[in-house]
Amino acid sequence: MHTDFENRLKDLVETYSHQIAEQNALSRRAREKTLTAEDVECYLTNMFYVFANTLPACHYALIISRSRNNEKMAEFCVEKMEDEKGHEVWAQDDLKHLGIANGLPNFNLVSQQSKDLVQYGRDVIDIDENFFSVYTFCFEYLTVVEGPKLLAQLEELGFSRESMSGLGYHVDLDKHHIEDDIKIILDTMRENHPEAMLEVARKTMDHLHKFLEYCVIH
Ligand SMILES: [Fe+2]
Repeated sequence: MHTDFENRLKDLVETYSHQIAEQNALSRRAREKTLTAEDVECYLTNMFYVFANTLPACHYALIISRSRNNEKMAEFCVEKMEDEKGHEVWAQDDLKHLGIANGLPNFNLVSQQSKDLVQYGRDVIDIDENFFSVYTFCFEYLTVVEGPKLLAQLEELGFSRESMSGLGYHVDLDKHHIEDDIKIILDTMRENHPEAMLEVARKTMDHLHKFLEYCVIH
C-alpha cells in the first residue's frame, strides 16, 4: 500500500506541476520572452517572502507536534528547520544581482496569493501536523520537476544562474529533500490518511499555481 500511495502522490504532483508550468504567468512570460526586470524583481520578492516564512512554519509545526506527542514529526521539523535556515538570503542576493540596493525587498510587491500560500501551511498543521510534510513535498517536488526548465528559460533571457540562486540551489537540494518528505509521510500515515493527504496535495498545488500566477507584475 505504501509504494502505491507514493506513486499516487507523485503522479498527482507531477500532473499539477506540468499544468502549472504550462499556464502560470511567470513561466508563460519566460517562454514568450516578455518577462521584464520588474517581473523578476516581483518574483524574487515573493520568493523571499515564502522563504522567510519557511522557518517560522517549521517551528510552528514543531511546537504543535510536540504538544501532540508526535515525536516522529517533531524530529522531521527539527531537521527541516536546519535544512531551510537562511534561504531567504539567496533571494536577497538575487535581488542585489538585479540591481536592487542592498537586496532590500519591496514588500508592496508581495501578493495576496503568496500570503494565502503561507497561511495554508499553518492551516494544514492545525488540522493535522502530519499533513505538513505533504505541503512541503508539493513545493519541493514542483521545484524538482519544473525548476530546471524555468532556470534554462530565465538564463536564455539573460538572468544568469548566479542571479537565480534561490531557484538554482533549491533545484539541487530538493532532490534530496523529497526523499525525507516521502519517508515521513509514509512513516506517519494512518489508515484514514491517504485520501486526506491527497486532498492536501491538491489544495497546496492550487495555492502554488496562484502563487506563480501572481508573483509577477499584474
Ligand atoms: Fe529552502
